[in-house]
Amino acid sequence: MVYIVFLGAPGAGKGTQAASMARKLKLAHIATGDLFRQALERGTELGLKAKSYMEKGVLVPDQITIDMVLERISAPDSGGGAVFDGFPRNLKQAEALGEALARQGKAIDKAVYIKVSEEELLERLSGRRVCRQCQAPCHMSDSPPRVEGRCDRCGGELSQRPAATEVSIKKRLEVYSDETAPLIDYYRRAGKLLEVAGEGGVEVVGNRIVAALGGERL
Ligand code: AP5
Ligand code: MG
Repeated sequence: MVYIVFLGAPGAGKGTQAASMARKLKLAHIATGDLFRQALERGTELGLKAKSYMEKGVLVPDQITIDMVLERISAPDSGGGAVFDGFPRNLKQAEALGEALARQGKAIDKAVYIKVSEEELLERLSGRRVCRQCQAPCHMSDSPPRVEGRCDRCGGELSQRPAATEVSIKKRLEVYSDETAPLIDYYRRAGKLLEVAGEGGVEVVGNRIVAALGGERL
């Protein structure tokens, strides 16, 4: 059983790399941003609660987020372990996750921090398109879809996230440095941090992550 957290700024490539690591290691991929967006597409109460926070680029309140994740980790497909993407995002969430896993005799094994410069982050976030169906991201100049407007993985319709405006992107980067970046030290102090350079192509970064995790006894 393996539990891995992916850390990094908005646009660092957490979603891209976490999805592929989860497939490789046969773990559940738990992405809080994707779960909120799916809830919003379905028009559920959870989606409506999350909507205004996401549009502003600020964090959805901790209790809503933590409850959603705790429910998700008790689903049958999470029994063999999970890759967390976009969660935890502050110390309160990190502690809640640690405590919930500890109650089941489990723990986070590693936190993979994908490090990318701010200039590159802005470039990636403005060119990103996301599949409305499976949430897979692609990039209009770096990894354009084979068929225009369609997802390479499932054929679903590609769209730009509603929160992709310049103001919202700037706000998300600010919230990241104030609230989420302290988690880098939190996991470093716990001896769990693996820092990986996030620039270079998707495959190059993926290989670095595999090498970093491969050097660990999980
Ligand atoms: P969330 O969906 O988690 O967004 P984020 O953390 O802001 O990060 P992104 O998904 O934007 O970036 P990413 O690192 O996944 O990069 P990606 O792989 O897409 O959160 C959205 C909102 O939901 C939050 O603002 C908040 O309101 C709410 N929320 C979510 N979780 C929460 C929580 N725990 N607590 C409270 N609120 C929460 O890649 C980006 C682009 O770059 C893509 O186009 C991709 O194709 C491209 N790319 C990726 N890797 C490379 C590479 N190596 N080279 C070139 N291009 C690349
Ligand atoms: Mg993401």
